[in-house]
Amino acid sequence: MKLNGKTAVITGGAGIIGAATAKHFIAEGARVALVDRDQTQLATVLAELEASKAVAITADVTKGADCARYAHEAHAALGPIDVFFNNAGIEGKFAPLPEFSEEVFEEVYAVNVRGVFLGLKYVFPVMRDGGSIIITSSTAGLRGSPHFAAYTMSKHAVIGLMRTAAAEGAPRRIRANTIHPAMVESNMMRRLEMQRVGNRTLEDIQQEYKSKIPLARYIDPSEIAASVAWLASDESRMITGSQHVVDGGAMMI
Ligand SMILES: NC(=O)c1ccc[n+]([C@@H]2O[C@H](COP(=O)([O-])OP(=O)(O)OC[C@H]3O[C@@H](n4cnc5c(N)ncnc54)[C@H](O)[C@@H]3O)[C@@H](O)[C@H]2O)c1
Repeated sequence: MKLNGKTAVITGGAGIIGAATAKHFIAEGARVALVDRDQTQLATVLAELEASKAVAITADVTKGADCARYAHEAHAALGPIDVFFNNAGIEGKFAPLPEFSEEVFEEVYAVNVRGVFLGLKYVFPVMRDGGSIIITSSTAGLRGSPHFAAYTMSKHAVIGLMRTAAAEGAPRRIRANTIHPAMVESNMMRRLEMQRVGNRTLEDIQQEYKSKIPLARYIDPSEIAASVAWLASDESRMITGSQHVVDGGAMMI
């Protein structure tokens, strides 16, 4: 098993990618702490996992005190942390730049950038030497996306945080990498499709998105989880400061 005996913290643990990754990590031998602000959904996800292998911590990643608490509670429950999947994120709204809401910009920044920074700040000290940090960016972190200023900004920004963590972690053999999914079969995609639907059909919007992926389908959350597990494992021990794209070929066209 790739992650035998390892401990992991997963933010956005109640979400689709976080939950799929928790399941995969446990199947590979890890114990996990799931962090999310959605207490109800967190309980649902926890109930589906092997009880002795998972704990849930309700916290808002935008708040420093919550981040300090989840790092402390995860350490108390699991011991030193081997893997930090810094993954919580929101999508915000589509709008052209002149109409882009300042409030939405701030909201997306708070979760996707400040939340990732605070996670690094507080989890770093409780990590075991030789650990692995994986931050969820997006293909939107590698190119421009019209009408999607806040999300695009945030997913570029975390590459800077990842590189900082990779550089500061290296003396302790702590690695840091970003993962860049394209469209994943998820609630987030449903919400994005609904924003764009207007007078078109949902199927039409989905077809348009899928036409941007040479492998011609949305990515399954388990396919993101498998890549995250590999980056978390010792098999990727010489990989740090890198960007790992899981996009069905979307970035090449
Ligand atoms: N779904 C996709 O197509 C896709 C593609 C590329 C990247 N991503 C990224 O993957 C990550 C996970 O997304 P997902 O698809 O699982 O979405 P999701 O909406 O299912 O999960 C996100 C989770 O983050 C939690 N969260 C949001 N704000 C929070 C806060 N302030 N404090 C604590 N928890 C908070 C939510 O409650 C939710 O459970 C995000 O960073 C997202 O940007 C998703």
